[in-house]
Amino acid sequence: MNIIQILNKDNLDFKDICTLLSLSNTSDIELLRQKAENVLLDYVGNNVSIRGLIEFSNYCVCDCLYCGIRKSNLNVTRFRLSEEEVLSCVDWAIEKNIGSVVLQSGECRDKETIRYITQLIKLIKKRSISTALPNGLGITLSVGEQTFDTYKSFFDAGAHRYLLRIETTNQKLFSEIHPNYQLFSKRLECLESIKKIGFQLGTGVMIGLPNQTIEDLANDLLFFKELDVDMVGMGPFIPHNQTPFAKADIDKKTNFLLGLKMISVLRLLMKDINIASTTALETLSPKGRILGLMHGANVIMPQLTPVDYKNKYILYDDKPDIDEQKESIFGKLKINLNNINRNISFNQWGDSLHFKNKNRKQ
Ligand code: 5AD
Repeated sequence: MNIIQILNKDNLDFKDICTLLSLSNTSDIELLRQKAENVLLDYVGNNVSIRGLIEFSNYCVCDCLYCGIRKSNLNVTRFRLSEEEVLSCVDWAIEKNIGSVVLQSGECRDKETIRYITQLIKLIKKRSISTALPNGLGITLSVGEQTFDTYKSFFDAGAHRYLLRIETTNQKLFSEIHPNYQLFSKRLECLESIKKIGFQLGTGVMIGLPNQTIEDLANDLLFFKELDVDMVGMGPFIPHNQTPFAKADIDKKTNFLLGLKMISVLRLLMKDINIASTTALETLSPKGRILGLMHGANVIMPQLTPVDYKNKYILYDDKPDIDEQKESIFGKLKINLNNINRNISFNQWGDSLHFKNKNRKQ
């Protein structure tokens, strides 16, 4: 079967996905991109949803071997933003008509942290209710593995979307990149809890990990479909110089292209979900995030984290924009989106259509 025949199929199978992810010829990749862009425009439309990303703490109890803020990295100066600091980011988002924020941090499960996060959610909600946002800002959380009851208390406080990446669905590979007390089965259990509670569920993987194959990535995409997720954020793996993977031998160009192809194929597999164009893409190419949008993504998450803290939230080397103020990041984003004829959804939560469509069917 040739590429066009595969692209015109209603249901891609494992073999088709592997074929598409293996494309290396520029014109074939362009065919894939165009198809994904058409599906995006048909099912989701031209609007790009923005989330202001607030990286509010880098304290972490995990020791993921790839991550710059792993607990064993003693070079990291740990911080947690005060409530006032978070609220000042929130005020900025409201002023700029950004309808939604993501609260992201390293993973902590102690009572005090849970109380702090729950309180933050309530404060943000209270602060942001206005005529433009009658239900306040949309709040997505990305604060790792928690108990069912903790997830429930976050949901009850007003958060309604949750991101927790599975990182890879190859269990052997998962165990190679995590310490033995961080379990794949636990991650799955958390994803099920998040879904059951009623959050819009987001997950994702890293692309181009050492020992990861095209087949692994195809399985990752099929896993997203099987779990029926509402949102996906995935990006190339990039070594961090203070981690055990500092010297990992990766081909940046290949991983960048794989990142784009993963977005396109996922758009064909799950037509109405939210797909984020991630910062890791931008690390490997100056226009990475815009290319991600052109390859089928519809969500972008400009950082609102105060500049003084950004250089302490480095998950991988060469993270872009770390010295740049949010005003300038946002200004450039608007110009870049305009250049590719995509609109920004202002004052919208930008919920996953997939979530809405699913609930309508039930
Ligand atoms: N390269 C790319 N992505 C990374 N993440 C963490 N470390 C790296 C890295 N070295 C991603 C993980 C995590 C998300 C918050 O950041 O997928 O879930």
